[in-house]
Amino acid sequence: MDLTTTLPRRVVVTGAMSGIGRAVAEGVLAAGGRVLSLDLDITEWSHPRMVARRVDVSTESDVDAAFADAPETLLGPPDAVIHCAGIYRWAPLGDTTVAEWDRVLRVNATGAFIIAKAAAAAMPRGVIVLLSSVAYGRGDEGEPGAAYSASKGAIVSLTQQLAVELGARDIRVNAVAPGMIDTPMLTLNNDPTAVSALTHRLPARRLGTAQDVAAACLFLASGSAGYITGATLPVDGGYLVA
Ligand SMILES: NC(=O)c1ccc[n+]([C@@H]2O[C@H](COP(=O)([O-])OP(=O)(O)OC[C@H]3O[C@@H](n4cnc5c(N)ncnc54)[C@H](O)[C@@H]3O)[C@@H](O)[C@H]2O)c1
Repeated sequence: MDLTTTLPRRVVVTGAMSGIGRAVAEGVLAAGGRVLSLDLDITEWSHPRMVARRVDVSTESDVDAAFADAPETLLGPPDAVIHCAGIYRWAPLGDTTVAEWDRVLRVNATGAFIIAKAAAAAMPRGVIVLLSSVAYGRGDEGEPGAAYSASKGAIVSLTQQLAVELGARDIRVNAVAPGMIDTPMLTLNNDPTAVSALTHRLPARRLGTAQDVAAACLFLASGSAGYITGATLPVDGGYLVA
């Protein structure tokens, strides 16, 4: 089966200026689709079939304004929304302030809710893919991040609920749970000793790449995943089972 023939053609990608979101956008563009990029940053990266808008995903009015323009930008309503924007913070419980907890939950959990709500309103039918993390399913002694883990757990629950709620409208909703992926977000990628200490216990024996995760997002957004909804797919080199 040729996956590219079933890929969505008009895609909103959040966090598309970096890491996983950029790899997702590049995948859509390489297959001939159009991208509306929503990110806090606008970098030098551009493409003739991509429009980049500066949007804070945790601000509903920003997101709604961007989605209102989507049909013009994408030459039709989006057929997929792939939500990769997020922030990573870790600190032991005693050092985590309520303000920091609120900030992480606001961007990651509330941001996912705001994007999913706008996506459901904008798409007559289609696919929503949200980015969770293996942190939803396993604690971490080395990088304790209660707020981050809780925010990514919220995305798993949101995915399940929205899959049920939106199924009758032919909108599928799935999540991807990346493990340790070599992007600017990964705090240890400049420390080869820390990387090898962690990866030697992984079945895959290596860090993941943004392209590894993007491939899973694009599969879930494709017609090839037409019978998959409400799922959270780990893309973690075996982290959750090791
Ligand atoms: N890299 C990893 O190891 C890893 C592991 C598990 C989960 N994830 C998840 O994957 C997703 C993508 O991560 P990444 O590694 O590509 O990170 P990244 O830092 O490379 O990219 C994140 C992007 O999100 C944007 N962003 C951040 N806050 C935003 C906001 N409020 N509004 C709009 N845009 C905002 C940033 O500008 C950036 O372009 C995140 O949700 C992250 O939690 C990453």
